[in-house]
Amino acid sequence: MSAAQSSAQSQPTLSFDELKSRLEPFEQTHLLRFWDSLDSDQQSRLSEQIAQVDFARLKTLIEGKDKSVDFGELAARATMPQAVASDGSGCDWTLYDAQKRGEEALRAGEIATVLVAGGQGTRLGFDQPKGMFPVGPVSERTLFQFFADRLIAAGEKYGVDVPLYLMTSEATHAETRRYFEENNYLGLKPEQVTIFQQGTMPAVDAETGQVLLAEKGSLALSPDGHGGTLRALSRNGCMEEMRKNGRKHLFYFQVDNPLVGLCDPVFIGHHLLASSEMTTQVIRKRYPTEKVGNVVEIDGQTQIIEYSDLPDSAAEMTNADGSLKLWAGNIAVHLFDLDFLERMLEQDTSLPIHRANKKVAHVDADGQLVTPDSPNATKFEQFIFDLLPNAKNTIVCEANPAEAFAPVKNANGAATDTPELAQQAICDLHRGWLRSCGVTVDDSVKVEINPRFAMDQDELCEKLRQSGDSDGEQSISSDRYFS
Ligand code: UD1
Repeated sequence: MSAAQSSAQSQPTLSFDELKSRLEPFEQTHLLRFWDSLDSDQQSRLSEQIAQVDFARLKTLIEGKDKSVDFGELAARATMPQAVASDGSGCDWTLYDAQKRGEEALRAGEIATVLVAGGQGTRLGFDQPKGMFPVGPVSERTLFQFFADRLIAAGEKYGVDVPLYLMTSEATHAETRRYFEENNYLGLKPEQVTIFQQGTMPAVDAETGQVLLAEKGSLALSPDGHGGTLRALSRNGCMEEMRKNGRKHLFYFQVDNPLVGLCDPVFIGHHLLASSEMTTQVIRKRYPTEKVGNVVEIDGQTQIIEYSDLPDSAAEMTNADGSLKLWAGNIAVHLFDLDFLERMLEQDTSLPIHRANKKVAHVDADGQLVTPDSPNATKFEQFIFDLLPNAKNTIVCEANPAEAFAPVKNANGAATDTPELAQQAICDLHRGWLRSCGVTVDDSVKVEINPRFAMDQDELCEKLRQSGDSDGEQSISSDRYFS
C-alpha cells in the first residue's frame, strides 16, 4: 500500500484555558464541561478534535448565513445540458474516435481512479463497509472485488497499473484496510492501492446549535461528505503522488454500483475530445422522483440538484411532448482533470454546505448518554459534484442504465436499488452478451462474467470463439460464472 493513510495529524494538547478562549466567542464552552474528569489521553484527543474545527465557519453555518438556495426556483428555470448519447450522437466526433482517444490516455498511464467509500450503508442494513458486500450473483464477489477485477482487466488490456485511491471514513477505515491486507489486495498490486481517510464535521444540536459530545471527551463527528475528497486527497499526499507519476485525469466513482464502467475508454475519450475539465455520466431517469441527483444547466453552468433538495413538483415537470424535463440522473461517475482539481485546491473554492437532520446519540449536560428516536441534530456535508459550475467545457455523457447502473443501496424487500435487483441486472446484462455471441441461455439461468474473462460483449464473443464455445451451438442450462 502506498504511504498515504489516515488524515489525523497530531497537534500539541492545548490547555483548558487555551481551549476555553477558542470556544468562548462561539458559545461552545460546554464542550469542556467534563474536562476535569478526563484522563490525559482523553484530554489530548478532545483538544485535537477542537483544534481541527473551524468554529467561525461553523457559526456561519449554524446561523444559516451561508448561501441558502431555493432549489424549486432554480429547477423551474433550469434547462438541460447538452449530452452525448450512448450511441455517440450529440458530439462532433465518433464513438470510435472517443474509444481510441480514451485508450491512448489509458495506455499512457494518465488515468487514476478514486473510489469514495466513507458512507456507512445504513439503508442497506449491512454492518461492514459497503464495499465488502457480496454482490456477485453467482460468484458472490464483493463490491470491492468487482472494482479490483475491472482494474486488473483494464491494466492487462492497456499494459499499465491503474492506481486506486480509496477514500474511507473513520467508520470504514480500519476494516477496509484489513480486508485489502488479508485478501492480498484482491489481486491488485499493494502499491497500486492507497487507502486514505476523509475529514469530519461536527454535528450540532438542531435547536441550540451547540456542538454535540458523543462521549464526555469526544465530539460527535461525522464524515464531511464526498465533497471532502479533494481536501483529503491533498492532505494525504495523493495529489502530489498522482502528479509525480504522470496522471492527468481522475476517474471518480462510488462504492455501491457493481456495473460502473470503470476506466471506460469511450467515456474518457469524450472527456478528452471535448477538452472538458469535469465530465459526468448520467442516465435517463426511469421515473420523476428516482433518487438520483438531477444534472441541469442554470445560467449557462452545469450543476446537479440533489434529489433530496428537489421538490416533487419540480421533479415531475414535463416538456410539451410529455417527456420528463429534468431527465438527466447523476450516477456519480465523474472524470476530473488533475489541473482543474489543483486549481480548485489553490483557489480554496468553498463548496456549498448541505444540511441533513439526523438522529445523533450524545451525552447530555449530566453526562448521560441520550439515544434519540427522532432527528435531533444537524449534520453538514459537502458534495464533490458541486465543483461542476467551476469547470470549463463540462460535458455530460448518457449511459444506458442496463449497462452502467445497478446501485446497491437498500435492503432486499425495498422497491428499488436492492442487492437482488442489482444481481438481476448483472445477470440480464451478461445473458444479453452471451446471446449476442450466439449462446442460448434461459432467463432462469444466472450468469456472471468477470471482466478478467471479458470486459464487454465483443471481448466475450472473441473469447468464446477462440475456445470454440459459441457459434450458436452452445447452450447454458445451469448457473455459470465465467472467470
Ligand atoms: C448519490 C448521489 C446522487 C446520485 C446517486 C447515484 C450524493 C449526495 N448523491 O446518492 O446524486 O444520483 O448517488 O447512485 O452523493 N460517501 C463518502 N463519504 C461521505 C458521504 C458519502 O465516501 O461522507 C460515499 C458513500 O460511501 C457512497 C457515495 O459517497 O459511495 C454516495 O453516498 P450516499 O449518501 O449513499 O448518496 P446517495 O443518496 O446514494
